[in-house]
Formats: sequence, structure tokens, C-alpha cells
Amino acid sequence: MKLLIKNIKGIVGAREEKPGLLSGAAMKEMPMLENAWLAVEDGIIVDFGLMENWGGITDWRDLEVTDADGKYLFPGWCDSHTHLVYAGNREGEFVDRIKGLTYAEIAENGGGILNSAMKLASASEDELFEAAMKRADRVIRMGTTAIEIKSGYGLTVAAELKMLRVIKRLKEALPIPVKSTFLGAHAFPKEYKENPDGYIDLIINEMLPQIAEEKLADYVDAFLEDGYFSIPQVTRILEAAAAYGLKGKVHVNQFTANGGVKACVDLGCVSVDHLEELTDADVQALKGGSTIPVALPSCSLFLTIPYTPARMIIDAGLPLALATDFNPGSTPSGNMNLVVALACFKMKMLPEEAFNAATINGAAAMELEEEIGSITPGMRANFFLTEAINSPYFIPYSFGDTLVDEVYVDGKKYEGLTL
Ligand code: NIG
Ligand code: FE
Repeated sequence: MKLLIKNIKGIVGAREEKPGLLSGAAMKEMPMLENAWLAVEDGIIVDFGLMENWGGITDWRDLEVTDADGKYLFPGWCDSHTHLVYAGNREGEFVDRIKGLTYAEIAENGGGILNSAMKLASASEDELFEAAMKRADRVIRMGTTAIEIKSGYGLTVAAELKMLRVIKRLKEALPIPVKSTFLGAHAFPKEYKENPDGYIDLIINEMLPQIAEEKLADYVDAFLEDGYFSIPQVTRILEAAAAYGLKGKVHVNQFTANGGVKACVDLGCVSVDHLEELTDADVQALKGGSTIPVALPSCSLFLTIPYTPARMIIDAGLPLALATDFNPGSTPSGNMNLVVALACFKMKMLPEEAFNAATINGAAAMELEEEIGSITPGMRANFFLTEAINSPYFIPYSFGDTLVDEVYVDGKKYEGLTL
């Protein structure tokens, strides 16, 4: 199968060599090829060039040709942090927050993560799968072509396994790459309120061995936060998970900076996510390791909490990735176009930095940067064509709108899912 896309107004992120994770000043570089063509063979990008400098295709048999007149071609968004599998919604809590309750107060009143866990307990695997497939379909149509999905609304052995089995089915059913993360340490179930370490024991002694046995997770996560999981508790979980080859991707510094970032860096986490509260010591800790900071600006928008200080991170020479945090409580949106827009006007990221953070750096936060996240020969042909727009800056500039016209996954035009 060969595909040729011609008359592309601009290929955004066209690179001859795989860029790998981009840090600091390198995040400003988003090479663009204007008036270009792109060739794909068997799902892999093979070549690109300028229309005036034609010569990429020598064998014209079995060649499908698409005319992209006036459209930009972007690498597909790589969303490295979602909670896409859940049951029911929490729009009542959203209204409660408008009335003045905080996220913490809602959780104390039986809402929050425990509310989602209660709803999930009575949902069947098929129901969860179908609802998640619909959400996945919507996010792919909005340009996402790689995704990470967490458990964490189960909070019992059976329900966490149920969620992870649903994620496994999504991996098999979806055309895009999916990474699975075990988030048993999302909240303490009521039964363990007086015995929190008993729940850590359950995670380590009951959940992790079965998850490893059935190969249900690629990563392990925890909500490291005052009132949720402490540094010693998260350390125990991450050390136990490491014995099964699972690395950490941890929720940290969403509401408080309590030294969790350094602990995660020292534990060799792939990423630390949220970081709305960030200290100089956290930045120093990040500089001393290889853990990728991940910002989730649509969560800040929805909860009306601070935005992750992107300038502090990037200007320190660090990398930054952007993701949605799609979940029913703090971010009921999986729209990476909005995330990129918020990063620009709320976090003062240049569009080029935001594009890189939402593509190649997001791929790196899922350890997929060798295969996805850039328009580079040898990488998977996962990309999207925009509507006819003046410049790539129209993506964040037209915030609230989604200017993604056609999505390609492994070189095939995405036509939607059949359930
Ligand atoms: O990333 N902070 C913890 N977990 C989610 C929210 C979960 C929920 O409210 O259901 C987050 O924001
Ligand atoms: Fe999250």
C-alpha cells in the first residue's frame, strides 16, 4: 500500500532524523516544509519533499494519491495521560464547584474519585469498553493518534483488573498505539480509611502480581498528594512494581509541592504529571534525572487551579510534554487542540513549543518517540491534515474550535470505529 499526499501547504515537524525528546531551547524548533509532498509505504513515512523538487516516487503502481490543497499536515497528537475508561459522569460535582465547593470538599462529601469507583463497580466490562471506544473515536477524530489510558476507578482487586482488561481490549481494537497504566493508588477506598497501609499491601500483594501475570499494564501510577498517597507509600508501590518491570508515571504536585517530584525522579519514573505547584527544588530535582514533566492545562481550566509553570520548566533547559488528563472529574475533555491553545495563552508557550510538547514529547512520555510524534522517514504514518488555514498558528489561535479535517493512522485515512 502506497500513499502520496501532494500540494500540502506545509508539513509541520518535517524532520530527516528522528528528533527524540526535545528539551529547553530545542522545543522552539518545529521545522516546516511549505508546498510539499509526503510519501507513505506500508504504514511508514518513507519520504517528503518540495512540490518543485519532485522525485520521491519512482514506482507508481498501487499508488493512492490525495490532494491536500491548502491544508497543513501535523504529526498526530500524542496524549500521554488519560483516564478514558470510566462509568457515568460527574456533572453534578461540576455544578457544586460553581456553587463554591472545592475539589477536596467534594471528595470529602463522597464525590470525586470514590463516586466514579462506585459507578464503575456496577458497570460490565462490555459497557465500559463500548463507552471508552466512543470516547476514543472522538479523540482520534480530533487528531490524537497515540494514547495512554489509566485504571484507578476500580480500587478493588476485581474492579482494577476489570478496568485493565478493558484497556487491553482497547489496545486490540483501536488502530492507534495504546499504553496501559495501573493506577490502583488513586484514592483510598472507604474500608481502608483507618488502615491506609492495608490498601498499599493489597496493591502490592494482590493487584500487582495478577496484573503482571496477565501482562495488563505497561506502567504504574499513584496520586502523590497531601490527603491521598504519601511519598513512603508511593515509594513502596513503585519499588514493588519495578520488580515486575513496570516504571512509574505519577500524579504529583497538583495541589501541593511536598517533595514528591524528587522522590519520583529518584525512583526513575518515566514522567511526573500535573505540576501545577512547582518549586525551584522540584526543578533542580528534574534537572538531575531523566523524568519527563507533563502538564495538563485543560485540568487547570476546568478546576480553576494554577497552570503548570511551563516557562520555569523549559527555560531551565528541561523538556515538557502536554496531555489532556481526560477523566470524568477534573477534565471531561480529550481535546488536544484545546490543550495546545491553553498552553499558548495560559502557560506562555510558543506554538512551536506547544506542538512539540503535544507530539514528540508526548510520545516520549509513553516511550514511543522512536515510532511516533514526528514526520520523519521510518516513523509510523500517524498524522492529520487541517482544514484550509492561513498558518499552523491557527490551531491555538482558533481556540475552542477543532480544525482537524482528516486523520491518518498507519497511512490509512481514519473513517471511524465500528462497534
Ligand atoms: O488527574 N488527580 C487525580 N486524578 C485525576 C482526577 C480524577 C477524578 O477526579 O476523577 C486527575 O485530575
Ligand atoms: Fe490524571
